[in-house]
Amino acid sequence: MNNFIYHNPTQLVFGKGQIARLPKLIPADKRILITFGGGSARRNGVYDQVVRALEGRTFFEFWGIEANPSVETLRKAVALGKEQHVDFLLAVGGGSVIDGTKLIAAGLLYDGDPWDLVLRGSSSHTVPLASVLTMAATGSEMNNGAVISRYETREKYAFYGNYPVFSILDPETLFTLPKRQIACGLADTFVHVLEQYLTTPGQSRLMDRWAEGILHTVVEIAPKALGETRDYATMSEYMLSATLALNDMIRMGVTQDWATHMIGHELTALHGLTHGATLAIVINGTLRTLRDQKHGKLLQFGERIWGISEGSEEERIDRTIERTEAFFRSLGLSTRLSQEGIGEATIAEIERRFNASGVHHGEAQNVDGAMARRILEACL
Ligand code: NZQ
Ligand code: ZN
Repeated sequence: MNNFIYHNPTQLVFGKGQIARLPKLIPADKRILITFGGGSARRNGVYDQVVRALEGRTFFEFWGIEANPSVETLRKAVALGKEQHVDFLLAVGGGSVIDGTKLIAAGLLYDGDPWDLVLRGSSSHTVPLASVLTMAATGSEMNNGAVISRYETREKYAFYGNYPVFSILDPETLFTLPKRQIACGLADTFVHVLEQYLTTPGQSRLMDRWAEGILHTVVEIAPKALGETRDYATMSEYMLSATLALNDMIRMGVTQDWATHMIGHELTALHGLTHGATLAIVINGTLRTLRDQKHGKLLQFGERIWGISEGSEEERIDRTIERTEAFFRSLGLSTRLSQEGIGEATIAEIERRFNASGVHHGEAQNVDGAMARRILEACL
């Protein structure tokens, strides 16, 4: 195991009716800015629960943070927050609203353009923020990451701010999610685990077993989560799986990949494809292209998750990669770029962007422009 420091300060408040706890969780003297997406919170009653809980408190509302939050919109929220001297942020929504709010939290204490902070990559000088989660996928409710887009230049980059001080996870808020969002959320959760697990074997039995526990859970609940979206027990498992997949817990002391995510962000930036949907395509190309590098872990993954233990090692890896792609298909997601009408022009642009920024992603730091091209060509 490699050295590591683990410090996750987010208080998780889980279960039915927990939104009513808001007044106990936010100090009484705070001037709160509540941030929302495009309107789902108003339609499904979450807004009413939040406003009822905070009756008598000083709060302002900012609506309109998009899926794949844009700096263009977040600048307006920063301006409102500064004007109202806000000193606490409450994000009500999915990963996009929480991510956007992480940048607002830093932007409120920064004099320049928030995009500078995104380009810088991080800022821990922030106003405190918390969340009421309504879409399970990103883990943003219990990590310090955010991914921010700039629509005018079709760019999308990771930014690190602070962890939410608390996050309320009421699985009933997920009952109104469209099936495609659930499919994308399950895919995102699954790939978050693979990015931290499917690297080099023999680093930590404990991390492997935790990761495999989440993978098994996602595979088991997926049909029910897509079939009975109002089943509380199933949505609870889905919601907590997504949080635990990316809250620093399963990556202690082990190497990580993240190349699939970095390529996926480019597909979103260039085509607007939903985050989880990009991963369901790119991960297959990553596994096919880097199968030798990931040989030992692919065998372990195939045996422990898909029960593939017969045949030569190469045959087992072939079947493991096929079985993984079949899982994403079973969620109703595309697994090939061609299904989304994406081809050579996009591959060339992503290769150009990776070369221009000189990146080397992946656990072996070998995913540069040329490797990204090979991965994408393996997804056609
Ligand atoms: O905008 P509204 O009207 O609220 O609708 C949203 C949105 O259209 C809707 N929705 C959310 N909760 C709902 C609901 N509809 C009905 N009922 C509910 N309860 O769902 C749509 C998608 O929401 P979004 O927040 O975009 O989804 P998600 O949570 O998947 O977040 C995606 C963003 O997170 C980033 C992605 O890149 C993408 O920008 N990521 C953030 C990470 C992090 N912070 O650590 C890691 C991830 O890998 C990911 O990159
Ligand atoms: Zn993701």
